[in-house]
Amino acid sequence: MEQVQVALLGLGTVGSGVFKMIQQNQDVIARRTGRFFNIRSILVKNLEKKREIQEIHHLLTDDYNQILRQQIHVVIEAIGGVEPARTYLIEAIKKGCHVVTANKELIAKHGRELEELAEQHGVRLLYEASVGGGIPVIGTLEHFLKANHVYRICGILNGTTNYILSQLSEQKREYTEILKEAQEKGYAEADPSSDVEGRDAAYKLSILIRLAFDADVPVEQIRCRGITDVTSGELELADRLGYTVKLLAQAEQFGESGPIACSVCPTLIPKSHLLSKVNDVYNAVYLEGDRIQDLTLIGQGAGENPTASAMVEDLCNIERWQSFRRVKKAEPWIVEGAAEAGTQ
Ligand code: NAP
Ligand code: HSE
Repeated sequence: MEQVQVALLGLGTVGSGVFKMIQQNQDVIARRTGRFFNIRSILVKNLEKKREIQEIHHLLTDDYNQILRQQIHVVIEAIGGVEPARTYLIEAIKKGCHVVTANKELIAKHGRELEELAEQHGVRLLYEASVGGGIPVIGTLEHFLKANHVYRICGILNGTTNYILSQLSEQKREYTEILKEAQEKGYAEADPSSDVEGRDAAYKLSILIRLAFDADVPVEQIRCRGITDVTSGELELADRLGYTVKLLAQAEQFGESGPIACSVCPTLIPKSHLLSKVNDVYNAVYLEGDRIQDLTLIGQGAGENPTASAMVEDLCNIERWQSFRRVKKAEPWIVEGAAEAGTQ
């Protein structure tokens, strides 16, 4: 059995989920991959914090250099934010480690730089967990829609806001109470303004645009409105008129290498439409391509287990990603206004 030495950065919602999944699913992982993943070190910020997982104290460190001095094959990053995560991953890649990350902000802002560096050093950079939690949307775009011209993406890409909107519509409770519940369930970002103001969904949309359209659209160029000013009165009115309100991330490319319209904003969805039935922490991604026609992926978009699942699947699939697609650096023409993406 081949031993793979792993360093885990972060032991919060996602890091804990990854640790538990590697321990608890060891048998099936070993049987199917022929590998034993050994977590050698876990980087945390606060060594004094009380941890839910017992008997790991000998693995914990707050010193990244100590991790770099060990023989590590794969670094799994679940600390979040741009820095120090970016620097840590650059150092890991330069040392010849494969990298698995759930960090959408980092991949949206520095994904190209990190991918190029990984390619130069002959290692993989995998980030399935950065979009859609447990939904394998990145794998779908990378492996199963390579030969399609994908020209439309539409999705519910944030679990926290979908949870809030669903609960607000169904249970008539206070917004702040529901947000607190989403935080307790581990769905929200460390700074939940990223969720409720739509930035988290914009990071994810930017990643999908790069993979689907081979184009770089900086997050700042995605028109973005969150759910903070959506009122219960508006939700009730929408309901009476036969609609559901969802925070929709949409992008459409008009012709190959043509202009792109993209936005994140609360959107009225007819109740008869599939996306209106995607509730709570569930996410959905709808894709249109010239040959696939249309494809919808639905699954849990946030939380410990679905996110850990995406990361551990990346870990198991490292060598399957033989050649990384070097996306061409297009300068897309961004057009104003939301795409009418599959909501009719
Ligand atoms: P979290 O619960 O806040 O955990 C963050 C972990 O990182 C903590 O263990 C923390 O250490 C550690 N950490 C933070 N800054 C650090 C630093 N500078 N140096 C060392 N350790 C540091 O966050 P999370 O929800 O697990 O999210 C982690 C990442 O996954 C983020 O990029 C997030 O966007 C992404 N993600 C989250 C979800 C989700 O459902 N939560 C889903 C998909 C992707 P301490 O424990 O000592 O404080
Ligand atoms: N905070 C994010 C969400 C986590 O609620 O969707 C999953 O990326």
